[in-house]
Amino acid sequence: MRQRRKHNLDAELERCKRFLLEPAPASSENALIAVTEKAYIDGAEIFKNDKQISLEIGCGKGAFAVEFCRRNPDRNLIAVERNAKIVVSALITADAANPDNLMILHSPCEVLPRYFRPGSIREIFLNFSTPLPNSPCTRQRLTHPRFLQIYNEMLMPGGRIYFKTDSGDFFAYSLEQMKDFGFEIVRSETDLYKSDLIADNIQTEYERRFVNMGLPIYMIIAQKKV
Ligand SMILES: C[S@@+](CC[C@H](N)C(=O)[O-])C[C@H]1O[C@@H](n2cnc3c(N)ncnc32)[C@H](O)[C@@H]1O
Repeated sequence: MRQRRKHNLDAELERCKRFLLEPAPASSENALIAVTEKAYIDGAEIFKNDKQISLEIGCGKGAFAVEFCRRNPDRNLIAVERNAKIVVSALITADAANPDNLMILHSPCEVLPRYFRPGSIREIFLNFSTPLPNSPCTRQRLTHPRFLQIYNEMLMPGGRIYFKTDSGDFFAYSLEQMKDFGFEIVRSETDLYKSDLIADNIQTEYERRFVNMGLPIYMIIAQKKV
């Protein structure tokens, strides 16, 4: 039974693997070493065009990614996810929608400077990143200054971070960190669904759950200074 399940999963992966980015493996699992040895992704080679690249970090099962690609044929999106099982779900979502401007990268956020040249990314989407409320985990939050440093380096001048969360505490923390780091805060909303930004909103899997529970959605748009 287990053998058949594995066989089915392998067949599924084979069918979807055209959406999986497979950059050169690092010589070590140590993130610091992996980042030092660069293996820059060549967007023009992968997408066969020179459109700008956007990143979604922590893409989950890929609903936002495929809808973003459908609405924005003028951009390429690389959706990043660190959990291998969830990457498989995102690949299956991509396969069903079959966009030509989406690729999925199995990587922790920490290692992204290995793959992306400084100043090469147009925008970064952080959709419902885990809020990690307890202080020992603060360093793991995707808006901790060590991650803002990575985003700042990868973004082109004027490039933006789009951040959404259901957590008021995580929103307040992230707003403070982005301001302190030197990002310009273009917008900050404590109830996205009552703001004009809702017109262009793409609902994610987690977002749908929170909205159905009646929770407000917080949003920040922050810009790297030119
Ligand atoms: C709460 S889920 C949100 C999923 C999706 N963005 C959504 O809104 O439905 C957070 C996702 O981020 C991923 N994640 C957390 N930390 C990460 C990291 N350091 N690098 C890459 N992905 C990460 C998790 O594996 C998980 O799939």
